[in-house]
Amino acid sequence: MDAQALENAALAAAAAATTIDEIEHVRVEFLGRKSELKLALREVRDRETGMALNALREKLETAIDARQTTLDRAELDRRLTEESVDVTMPGARVRRGHLHLITQIRREFEDIFLGMGYSVIDGREVETTRYNFDALNYPPGHPTRSPLQTLFLDDDTVLRTETSPAQIRTMEAAEPPIYVVCPGRVYRRDTPDATHTPTFHQVEGLAVDEGITLGDLLGTLDYLIKSLFGANRESRFVTHHFPFTEPSVEALVSCHICDGSGCPVCRHSGWIEVGGSGMVDPNLFEFVGYDPERYTGFAFGWGLERIAVLRHGIPDLRELWRNDPRLLGQF
Ligand code: DAH
Repeated sequence: MDAQALENAALAAAAAATTIDEIEHVRVEFLGRKSELKLALREVRDRETGMALNALREKLETAIDARQTTLDRAELDRRLTEESVDVTMPGARVRRGHLHLITQIRREFEDIFLGMGYSVIDGREVETTRYNFDALNYPPGHPTRSPLQTLFLDDDTVLRTETSPAQIRTMEAAEPPIYVVCPGRVYRRDTPDATHTPTFHQVEGLAVDEGITLGDLLGTLDYLIKSLFGANRESRFVTHHFPFTEPSVEALVSCHICDGSGCPVCRHSGWIEVGGSGMVDPNLFEFVGYDPERYTGFAFGWGLERIAVLRHGIPDLRELWRNDPRLLGQF
């Protein structure tokens, strides 16, 4: 190749290079140790040819350097724009968790009673048959005492079937006046289905003092019903049976769906059962050493899942244990 053709080819190649790699290749091809120009320079014998080839080398070096500088700057620009962090952009949103529906209702329940001067206490989830049954006046042979209904850890120890044993432990540990609520998990030998789970939550309530009457119980529960379900709900009470209360009372709330006129949710009665209660049976006072002539009391035990189902129309209790954020996130 003559000098002019070489120059044209090199300048064209330099101008055509669009990346740093490409310009590096052009440099090696036209100015590298094995390039035509370098080989020719090595062969030079006369001064004129030497000067001409060196001038060409300088010219090519300048052109390639200039192109390299341009490409370096373009690369820098690209990185500065592409890799820069825009601190004003909004960040990726972190999903915020919240309390489980049952925990929310438990706290609400606690707040209602804290507001009336009650204390919140803990019971035991593992109980003796003495506290879970005997002290609560369950007669021998009562079906709840059967291993078909209750989870036994050994002959004398069970997972509590209700929060009621907390009544006994509270009364044993203190003298009246007593005003406590005890929220917690209870266990029953049930196969899970839409309306049963082997574990669920109750809140036990106990008030023992001089002169406590059934009217105090009904007034307290009416206030509870209006606090939980709305000020325009009505309450009603029907007799029931529990071994540890006499009389025993089931509380009903006017149906929030039909407002009392009758619908499938309230089985056309206009009323829905919300929980058990009653006046503390004097046998319990005798068990803990209280004077039944001096003290009277009321107690109740309501299920939190039941409140959740009624208030929020949850169709299947098992949903509360599945921990699917699509469901729990709605509350
Ligand atoms: N322990 C009862 C249950 O699990 C609920 C209950 C009813 C608790 C009446 C009470 C009560 O304290 O007085 O079905």
